[in-house]
Amino acid sequence: MYRAFRRKIIIMTLFISFVPLALLGYTLYYGFAKAYHQRIEQQINSRLRACAQTLDIFLEERLVILAAIANMSTPEYFQDILHLQSLFQNINQKTGGGLIDLGVINSAGEHLAYIGPYNLKGINYSKEAWFDQVMVKGLYISDVYMGYRKIPHFIIAVRANRNGVNWILRATIDLDVFTRIVSTAQMGNTGDAFIISRDGIYQSPSRFKKDNILTNSGIDTSMFGANITVIRKGEGPDKNRIYNGLWIKEGQWLLVVSQNPDENILSFSDMVAEQITLFLIALFGIVITTVITTSISVNTLQERDKEVAELNAHLIQTDKLAALGKMAAGVAHEINNPLGIISTKAGWMRDLLDEEEFKESPNFKEFQECLDKIEEHVQRAGKITHNMLGFARSMEPVMESVDINSLLTKTTEFLNHHAQINNIAIKTDYDKALPEINSDRSQLQQVFLNILNNAIDSITNKGDVIITTRREHDSRNDCDKIVIDIKDTGSGIPEHIKNRIFDPFFTTKEKEKGTGLGLSISYRIIEKLGGTISVKSEKDKGSVFTITLPICI
Ligand SMILES: Nc1ncnc2c1ncn2[C@@H]1O[C@H](COP(=O)(O)OP(=O)(O)O)[C@@H](O)[C@H]1O
Ligand SMILES: [Mg+2]
Repeated sequence: MYRAFRRKIIIMTLFISFVPLALLGYTLYYGFAKAYHQRIEQQINSRLRACAQTLDIFLEERLVILAAIANMSTPEYFQDILHLQSLFQNINQKTGGGLIDLGVINSAGEHLAYIGPYNLKGINYSKEAWFDQVMVKGLYISDVYMGYRKIPHFIIAVRANRNGVNWILRATIDLDVFTRIVSTAQMGNTGDAFIISRDGIYQSPSRFKKDNILTNSGIDTSMFGANITVIRKGEGPDKNRIYNGLWIKEGQWLLVVSQNPDENILSFSDMVAEQITLFLIALFGIVITTVITTSISVNTLQERDKEVAELNAHLIQTDKLAALGKMAAGVAHEINNPLGIISTKAGWMRDLLDEEEFKESPNFKEFQECLDKIEEHVQRAGKITHNMLGFARSMEPVMESVDINSLLTKTTEFLNHHAQINNIAIKTDYDKALPEINSDRSQLQQVFLNILNNAIDSITNKGDVIITTRREHDSRNDCDKIVIDIKDTGSGIPEHIKNRIFDPFFTTKEKEKGTGLGLSISYRIIEKLGGTISVKSEKDKGSVFTITLPICI
């Protein structure tokens, strides 16, 4: 029963403490994940900004260089291919590369000079859209296109004026160098960075679809504002993927950095593992404290139940004695009357036997013996009824000052002779400082006699009866008590009859020897005197009867 109870409490307590912990854990995790996503987004944004700046500077730098050179030279100067070549090499060396070719175009669109891997000299660009734009605006950066070379590229061009005549310095940008800069904005394994035009056309390849350059990205660029804009695309397995975009090249191109925010870039799982460990430690702590506190409570409960059970047993015993006492009184009374009549009639008969005629009878002796027997047994029956009445009577104690040690000494004197015959030594160990107490001397003596007699009876061959007295504090009523131990080295009391020895008429002795009333009477007496009586016994080793009597009443 206690086990089931214990289990129930443990489960309940665990549940009660676990739920808030789990909630807390979840909330922490949730908040943490949110913070983590925010940090990821911050990182993406700062990379995006840095990359956009780099790209803009990259383009501007080259434009500025071209413009400066164009404004200081003439188209004629560059018709010497060596001049153009040295300029081309110089720019590439000083800026870290990035130009594929360089060309000089006159105001009619004719390619006057060209240095680069393709043979483009002589081509006329006057019909190209960009040609007009350079002529009008002075500066130009194209979108990526295939052009004559059939590979994606884009050009930058500046217009210069020499003596009233316009001419153009044009360069092709190495898309690989440009793409490499773009890819610095990628993060982790799932991060992507690319450029699209206003129409959503890829200007640089996406990381995962290498040959998608110049195809449509499907991204609606109108959603992106002047500043960094974050867009969640929300489809497919990548539905959490976010797209952060920032316009570059004066709003003509959109640099996009996309990222799956759940990707473990900042060792998210390490932190989660840390949290889980903490959680497990807390859980372990809860389990341990729960088990310990439950054990303590259940044990206390178990002890309390035991005390209640003892008290109940005591009450039952008192009840039993009271009921049996009443019955015994009735029975004793009913038997006493006929016993009286038998006894009177037997006396009468004995008187008659004295007359001559009976004395001469051949059966005279027989008659006499019969009367002896009748009187003996009437006496015995009378003794039993006397005991029963004694048990049943209310036995109001007569209180007087009693010295327990000397009362015990007097009582043992009665028994010494009987004990000696049976090879039994009665030993005593008294606390000389015991105070006299207010109690009923003769009833106490009856109790001592009963218990000492039982002790002597329990020793069949040879043994000791040891009587000790001492003073002890009684925590129940905060009043000292006298404790009397009567110990024997006799047969002991078998476990199965231990709780019956105080019952009236319970005896294990032969008919002639025991009535089974001694202990029940003693129990009632001690109870009336405000004390307790209890027994400890081990089979074949002996028993200790302990009587306590209050000192202050
Ligand atoms: N000191 C003891 N050692 C062993 N058994 C005992 C002792 N005291 C009492 N008993 C047991 O308790 C029973 C009841 O004792 P009691 O009420 O005095 O009745 P009775 O002595 O007439 O049998 C005894 O018959 C005996 O079995
Ligand atoms: Mg007895």
